[in-house]
Amino acid sequence: MRAIIILPLFIILSSGKVIKQNQEKELEWWETTIFYQIYPRSFADSDNDGIGDLNGITSKLEHVKEIGAGAIWLSPIFQSPMYDFGYDIADFYAIHDEYGTMEDFEALLEKANELDLKVILDLVPNHSSNESVWFQEALKGNEKYYNYFVWEDGVIDENGNMQPPNNWKSQFRGSAWEYREEVEKYYLHQFVIGQPDLNYRNPDVVDEMKNIIRFWLNKGVAGFRVDAVNHLFEVDKDRFDGKYPDEPLSGRLDVDQDSYDYYSHIYTKDQNETYYMVYEWRDVLQEISAQDGLERVMMTEVYATIQNVVKYFGEGERKGAQMPFNFNLITDADSSSSAADMKRAIDKFLTYKPVDKMANWVAGNHDNSRMASRYGPSLVDGINMIVLLLPGVAVTYMGEEIGMVDGEVSWEDTVDPSGCNTNDPINYYKSSRDPERTPFHWNAGKNAGFSTAEKTWLPVAQGYETLNVEVQKAAEKSHLKVYQALADLRRDDVFRFGRYDSLALNKDVFVFTRWYQGEHYLVVVNMRDNEYTLDLTYFENIDGDVTVILSSTQSPKEEGDRYPAFAVPVVGFEGLVLRHF
Ligand code: GLC
Ligand code: MG
Repeated sequence: MRAIIILPLFIILSSGKVIKQNQEKELEWWETTIFYQIYPRSFADSDNDGIGDLNGITSKLEHVKEIGAGAIWLSPIFQSPMYDFGYDIADFYAIHDEYGTMEDFEALLEKANELDLKVILDLVPNHSSNESVWFQEALKGNEKYYNYFVWEDGVIDENGNMQPPNNWKSQFRGSAWEYREEVEKYYLHQFVIGQPDLNYRNPDVVDEMKNIIRFWLNKGVAGFRVDAVNHLFEVDKDRFDGKYPDEPLSGRLDVDQDSYDYYSHIYTKDQNETYYMVYEWRDVLQEISAQDGLERVMMTEVYATIQNVVKYFGEGERKGAQMPFNFNLITDADSSSSAADMKRAIDKFLTYKPVDKMANWVAGNHDNSRMASRYGPSLVDGINMIVLLLPGVAVTYMGEEIGMVDGEVSWEDTVDPSGCNTNDPINYYKSSRDPERTPFHWNAGKNAGFSTAEKTWLPVAQGYETLNVEVQKAAEKSHLKVYQALADLRRDDVFRFGRYDSLALNKDVFVFTRWYQGEHYLVVVNMRDNEYTLDLTYFENIDGDVTVILSSTQSPKEEGDRYPAFAVPVVGFEGLVLRHF
């Protein structure tokens, strides 16, 4: 009797499994939101010292709310000598004084809470600062802290001079080893000299980092973006007679021997232990979530093969990060890409991620040339359409909502170690990350409304008089308005639960569809300055007419315009959201 009742139920479930399951599953807050990355130094300066700060951020949270984001992730706000602008942390439990106080941070959290915005902090687990108490204690011979770091003996060359232990290079050029007389050893720094790597083979370090995670979660943050996490472990040197082995050459001939890319980082990156460490951190997040029911999220920053990136999601029952950052829109496509390249870049993450996990879309951050510069300003709306309407979580780097471009920063004004370490006043800009970090454009006033200081820490980019929030708010059509409309649209079930399909309709035009329970949308992005008439009936179930729901800033189309699906005209760089009834 029972079996007869269960059988038909099972068939119904299995017939519409994906849609049914998703529909009935209550999505977590982070699964439907937009994460807005704020680079604290450059967002808003409240005390007019030319440097952005926490009170500045708090005063501008309404903007984040207004564009439709539901969470912010903040680049590091912790005590730091700023050799790598906050990614060199001297005290993981304290706020950097130029940015404010712990009370200021608590006020930020309170304001965010009022606005129903979640706050995510940057966890920088791979290294601390050479000015941290830990490192200072290590130099004094305090064994506990000495063991927090990675030390190695130098080697004596044929001239009797001491040389670094091996050929490992810093991401910012030159040896990854720095000698300290106090202990007569070299320490490892995969980034700047001021960022000594922490030793994850020491359980004390593992505990310390978990305490740091608990400390900030208990303050009320909703999770962490985890920095440079694939650098966490170095190879176990006991496997190599107690000496860290040289890394092999990458074979790249376009870079010199001091460059990081001259070598293949098989011993310092993507070690297996890393994934399990991330799973352990997720356990700590779960532990806190169990107390109040709010899911805490982890997003991992890893530039690696897609196979390695998706390992951070977890393995079987072991949960990992909810959002291993998907950087394919940064690394695999740009203004020179064809529509087919774009399709491939997008399908890559969707193909490799576990079927039961969410995708996420990142088109820019503080380490890469701005989205509007890489794709060209004409594609800003098109790329925002892609980021906000594809299935998954959207991530926006501050300024992408208004189409900010890279600022020009002279050699004299360059402060990023990645630029400065080139020692090359001509080509430094290719390595410098200052251009994507110039101050945010609020209005046409002094310093773009960022600060009233005489000099800001980086110069304000040119063109802010016309490219800013105030102007775009007042305009009838603007990147900001398109962005807001996209943020509204993505609240619709079709963009939350809908299926996805895509086609390169020709060499320039990329189109994707989303459909759910009879609703059907198409998103068209023309990546070139060429005109076309598109036949959208190449997609299944598209015939009859399509209606314009939203168009890019330069599009001549109006909301409500109708076209036969087999002949939709597009102008150069046009981006469209169409609905098929
Ligand atoms: C990450 C950060 C970058 C920093 C590096 C070292 O890649 O995003 O800004 O320089 O880690 O912490
Ligand atoms: Mg300030």
